[in-house]
Amino acid sequence: MYRLLFAVVVLPVIQAASEGQSWAYTGKEGENSWATKYSFCGGVYQSPLDFHGSILQYDSTLKPIQLYGYNASSTDYFTVSNNGHTVSVSLPPSMYIEIPPFRYIAAQLHFHWGSLAGHEGSEHCIGGKRFPAEMHIVHYNSKYVDIGTAMEVADGLAVLGILIEVGSFNPAYENIISQLAHIKFKGQKFNIPGFNVRHLVPERLDEYYRYEGSLTTPPCNPSVLWSVFRNPVFISEEQVTYWTNKIGGSVFNQ
Ligand SMILES: *[C@@H]1O[C@H](CO)[C@@H](O)[C@H](O)[C@H]1NC(C)=O
Ligand SMILES: [Zn+2]
Repeated sequence: MYRLLFAVVVLPVIQAASEGQSWAYTGKEGENSWATKYSFCGGVYQSPLDFHGSILQYDSTLKPIQLYGYNASSTDYFTVSNNGHTVSVSLPPSMYIEIPPFRYIAAQLHFHWGSLAGHEGSEHCIGGKRFPAEMHIVHYNSKYVDIGTAMEVADGLAVLGILIEVGSFNPAYENIISQLAHIKFKGQKFNIPGFNVRHLVPERLDEYYRYEGSLTTPPCNPSVLWSVFRNPVFISEEQVTYWTNKIGGSVFNQ
């Protein structure tokens, strides 16, 4: 049973790719400079987006997102790592989603969050409201051999966007937050037992914003079918603060 589905109509943008390795969120290689090195960045339809009335169009053909294999066994391991930009958690290929006509295999999930002071770290906004943080679960189209190949093509990736709001303590997110102290430095990795990733995702899988867009960070390839859930998940103020102050603020997003 589904009542509310949203589709955001976004026209395709075609640009030439360019080379480049280094980027940052701030400073001279910060967001405002991305477009000079990475030509996909800064396009008119570049993610992130603000979902607001005039760009939303209800689409009755959209179906609830189908999650498969999300309840990982505790005998499987997820690798939590610090790649210098974010916290990334590797996911097993037994996890996948189906968005007809394709199946998309899970690769990793990662986070975007704000700086020390702000609670405004989300990449997507709803009606102008930014959220403290956002999680992206990245999947690649099963018709491609791996995520690297899939990133280069228009129908390569499907990312689930989950907005994170302040509320009550969230034990599922604590699986990851409690490990952050182990990965304070770039390149550090830590294995954690698998858990039910469904618990990181909002209850309702039928209310989401859908558009075709790009990666939100360089190289910003326009290869992503986005589904951003309308309802946020909640984590406690302490969990947000631990992330942004104790770990994130000093280590990441620099
Ligand atoms: C997830 O898997 C565990 C262990 O196999 C099981 O105990 C639990 O009931 C499952 N949860 C759901 C929601 O299916
Ligand atoms: Zn992301």
